[in-house]
Amino acid sequence: MSFSSSARSDPCCLEAAASAEAPLCDRSLWGLDPQAIFLNHGSFGATPKKVLQAQSVWQERLEAQPVQFMGEELPRALRAAAAELAQFVGAEPENLVFVENATGGINTVLRSLSFRPGDQIACTNHGYGAVRQALRYVCERWGAVLAEAQIPFPIAGPEQVLAAFAAILTPQTRLAVVDHLTSPTALIYPLAELVGLCRQRGIPVLVDGAHAPGVLPLELESLGADWYTGNAHKWLFAPKGCAFLWAAPHRQAQTHPLAISHGYGQGFTAEFDWVGTRDPSAWLAISAALAFIRELGVERLRQHNHTLLLQARQLLLEKLEGIPPAPEKMLGFMATLPLPPFWQQWIPELPLAERARRLHDYLWQMHRIEVPIIPFAGQLWVRISAQVYNHLAEYEQLALALQRLPK
Ligand SMILES: Cc1ncc(COP(=O)(O)O)c(C=O)c1O
Repeated sequence: MSFSSSARSDPCCLEAAASAEAPLCDRSLWGLDPQAIFLNHGSFGATPKKVLQAQSVWQERLEAQPVQFMGEELPRALRAAAAELAQFVGAEPENLVFVENATGGINTVLRSLSFRPGDQIACTNHGYGAVRQALRYVCERWGAVLAEAQIPFPIAGPEQVLAAFAAILTPQTRLAVVDHLTSPTALIYPLAELVGLCRQRGIPVLVDGAHAPGVLPLELESLGADWYTGNAHKWLFAPKGCAFLWAAPHRQAQTHPLAISHGYGQGFTAEFDWVGTRDPSAWLAISAALAFIRELGVERLRQHNHTLLLQARQLLLEKLEGIPPAPEKMLGFMATLPLPPFWQQWIPELPLAERARRLHDYLWQMHRIEVPIIPFAGQLWVRISAQVYNHLAEYEQLALALQRLPK
């Protein structure tokens, strides 16, 4: 096993293995279409069959005696599941609750807070679209102002994130919403430093960690953030609808679920553990998801995925004659790469987002490759994901498909 030089000096960087030409794991452990090349684990994850089986065992237990299950078994089972997940993300169990997804986690916090006209909420231009919409809604509702740090892309290093973010913070800033790992550009932000910047100024921080669990080692209790939401259904292999919200103890009294229910006023976990009748099986299956990832070996998986990502990125940059838009140390299991000039000029009469959609559909329909095409900063980019079932030849297929325009 060898380590990338950039990884050694920075504890936030992932380590690379010597090679990742073969998949780490047999793809038949997932239900993925065997005819397709799936290079987009990032959007919605992909859940192993074994984890889905564990989820359906929970559903069967529920349906065998719904009243007993919901009333007696679920409260204990849910807290046990939360404790297991908390341990994985470096959190105290009583500070972590389940939510359905990161969108819900972000909305929970934003809609628990109140603002005054003229207050500022700080975010960055690499934020996820739905989160930016939620921020717009909250700003419109309270008369607050959204201040968006313009982080460059291509980017030279994390210091550019810090400089751009520091530049927009003012005495009116009441909340900072920052990503851990960005969606359109797949960048690892220097989160500890961003949190530090905000804390120095007394600004509460909400972290959008949708992509981080499973990719990056997390120590939520010592991070210093006020809230952190993350998905387990992306890179932790949990079923869809399994995500969490962590809140610092001093923020819990002001943080309420989107649906107020029986637990109102009875404490953070009581409020979130019952938000009305729902299927809790995705949350309860977290134990099976964590067992799956542990069986593979968390470090082994990280090294495989990061190495494969770097090899795939290099291959695509060479074949498409592109320049790396970000340093390796800012990457995890995804990378966003520029498309060649001929794709940028393809059907120029159409809006960029429409051209992105058409290229995505072309790759899927003609080449059976699933990969997101991202319109960002006035250009088209392709975002690749690397997961244990992927191997290098799949990215070669993508490079081949992207080397020429459709006939
Ligand atoms: C940075 C970021 N935040 C939030 C989300 C939303 O995740 P979900 O759809 O699970 O709510 C995503 C989804 O890709 C994301 O990339």
